[in-house]
Amino acid sequence: RPLKGAVEFRQVGFRYPDSDVNVLSDISFSARAGETLAIMGSTGSGKTSLLGLIPRLYEADEGAVLVDGIDNRKMELETLRRQIGYVPQEIMLFSGTVAENISWGKRDASLDEIKDAAKRAQIHETIMKLPLQYDTVIGQKGVNLSGGQKQRLSIARALVRKPAILLLDDCTSALDVRTESALLAELKDLSCTILLVTQKISSTANADTILLMDDGRLLASGSHHELMQNSLLYQRIYES
Ligand code: GTP
Ligand code: MG
Repeated sequence: RPLKGAVEFRQVGFRYPDSDVNVLSDISFSARAGETLAIMGSTGSGKTSLLGLIPRLYEADEGAVLVDGIDNRKMELETLRRQIGYVPQEIMLFSGTVAENISWGKRDASLDEIKDAAKRAQIHETIMKLPLQYDTVIGQKGVNLSGGQKQRLSIARALVRKPAILLLDDCTSALDVRTESALLAELKDLSCTILLVTQKISSTANADTILLMDDGRLLASGSHHELMQNSLLYQRIYES
C-alpha cells in the first residue's frame, strides 16, 4: 500500500473568527508521507494555530491545506480526522484507568494494541511499575503522574489509533533528551508523517525539514544542514 499522510500548505492565511488580524500569513511548505517536520518559533508565533488547520479545528481563510493532495475543506471531517493523531499542548487525562485513558480515541482497542502504543511512546515500563499496571486509576481519584509521564501517555493515546499523520504540539518538552530521542526513533519506525512543535533544538535532529516561524510567518525552512548555512536565526538558536 502506498504511504499516506502527505501534508501541504499553499500560501495559507488564517485569522480566528473573532478577530481581524491574521495569525498566519502566506505559509507554504510540504511534508511528504512518512517525513518528520519540526516546527520552531517563539511563543505566539502561530505554531498551535498551524497544526489546528490540519484536522480542521479551524479552516484556512486564504490558500489551502492539502492532505494527500486533497484540499482538506473538501474532505469529510470524519474521514480527515480518522487519519490524524493529535497530541495537544495542554494534556487532558481523565479519572479512569491507564488503559481507558490510552484507548480514549479508539474504544475498541485491544490490550495488545494499547500496550504496543505505550511501548512506542516509552511509557510501558512506567505503567508496569504502577500498583495495578494498566488497570491503575489515574487522575484526581488515582495516582499522580509526572508531567513527562502524562505527555507520553497522551502520545500513546494518539498512537493507538495508528494515524497516518501525527501532530505533536510541544508535548515532549518534559522529556529528557535520551527518552525523547528513543521516542522519536520509534515514531520514525511507524512511517507516519510527523509534525512536531518543539522549543528544543535537540528534537530537530531527526527532522527532515525544520520550519522556523515568527509572528505568523515562515522565516526559514530546510534541513538542519541547510539552515545552519542559510539562517542566522537558526544558528543563533543552535548555539544558545
Ligand atoms: P506557544 O504555544 O506559546 O509557543 O505559541 P504558538 O506559537 O503555539 O501560538 P498560537 O498559535 O497559540 O497563537 C498565535 C496567535 O494567535 C497569538 O497571537 C494568540 O494570541 C492568537 N490566538 C491563539 N488562540 C486564539 C483564539 O482562540 N482566538 C483568538 N482570537 N486568538 C488566538
Ligand atoms: Mg502553542
